[in-house]
Amino acid sequence: MTMMKTARIHEYGDASVIRYDAVPRPRPGSDEVLVRIAATSFNPTEAALRAGLLQSFFTLDLPYTLGWDVAGTVAEIGAGVEGFAVGDRVIGRFDGGGAAAEYVRVPAALLVAAPVSVPLAHAAALPVAGLTAWQAVLEHGKAAAGQRVLVNGAGGGVGGFVTQLAKHAGAEVIATAGPRSTEAVLRQGADQVIDYTAGPLGTALDGPVDTLLNLVPLSPPEAAALAPLVRPGGRIVSIASPIEPAADAEVRAVHMVARNDVAHLAALVELVDAGALGIDISDSRPLADLADVHRLSEAGRIRGKVILIP
Ligand SMILES: NC(=O)c1ccc[n+]([C@@H]2O[C@H](COP(=O)([O-])OP(=O)(O)OC[C@H]3O[C@@H](n4cnc5c(N)ncnc54)[C@H](OP(=O)(O)O)[C@@H]3O)[C@@H](O)[C@H]2O)c1
Repeated sequence: MTMMKTARIHEYGDASVIRYDAVPRPRPGSDEVLVRIAATSFNPTEAALRAGLLQSFFTLDLPYTLGWDVAGTVAEIGAGVEGFAVGDRVIGRFDGGGAAAEYVRVPAALLVAAPVSVPLAHAAALPVAGLTAWQAVLEHGKAAAGQRVLVNGAGGGVGGFVTQLAKHAGAEVIATAGPRSTEAVLRQGADQVIDYTAGPLGTALDGPVDTLLNLVPLSPPEAAALAPLVRPGGRIVSIASPIEPAADAEVRAVHMVARNDVAHLAALVELVDAGALGIDISDSRPLADLADVHRLSEAGRIRGKVILIP
């Protein structure tokens, strides 16, 4: 039996529950392909999943192999799969997890061709964060030329894609970032960066915005302070804490959960290959460092996207 490395949890708990187990390499079932992983990427949702905080939304079969972001090459094809060949470079978001491993079996319908213009391992940063950004900016935020868009939390993994997509849509982007991320956020195209560590955002902002895209978990008072920054008729989209505008504010607010959508993922790949969307990898670690990455994230010490190589 051929064995492979995985990073998985047998129980909920702090980062120490992540174990690096050797397990038999899976075979693809019908309509599935086996992907040899080039990298997965870290997403903070997985730390919440590991801690057991999302049990009302996701029931995990334990032991559960982490890793929702798949980037790799097709190693084997299951019955009934068409359109893929062994050796194809693919990416996908797989909510079933399993990409924190050397191989993962994935429904073929969830995969798209990886971008050709970036290293395959870097493309692991795209599925979860990119899809979230796409749906926040374009679907819910309806960013367009002539709008002023405020991106709160632009320094994170989702934020890098949000800033670029809002700029690509033609909007003026005002972003919040701390000193460690300011340079990266400007490189991603932000017109103005406000240092969120320097004082209240409202005082640094020069007039109301059309759209607020919030990517940061907020306390209720912090959320309440952001709502009035949006003009009447504007929009608030939050992927983290809900932000409720005042009843008479005439502002539409959405608290969104991103969904898997291969058409959106393929569109993101196209933008990457057109040179219109960059992938900012802040760190590349061996898979054996996954528990450390969870700890760093929980301590607020991660910015951008971190990829993990099996
Ligand atoms: N609803 C959904 O479907 C969905 C999908 C994906 C993620 N999420 C959630 O969305 C959030 C962002 O995800 P992510 O992957 O981008 O997380 P991340 O990469 O861990 O975000 C970390 C970044 O947050 C920034 N930050 C922290 N506190 C801030 C503040 N008070 N103001 C402005 N920026 C602040 C930091 O910026 P600096 O480096 O500038 O200090 C840091 O770089 C997480 O809570 C995640 O769980 C939700």
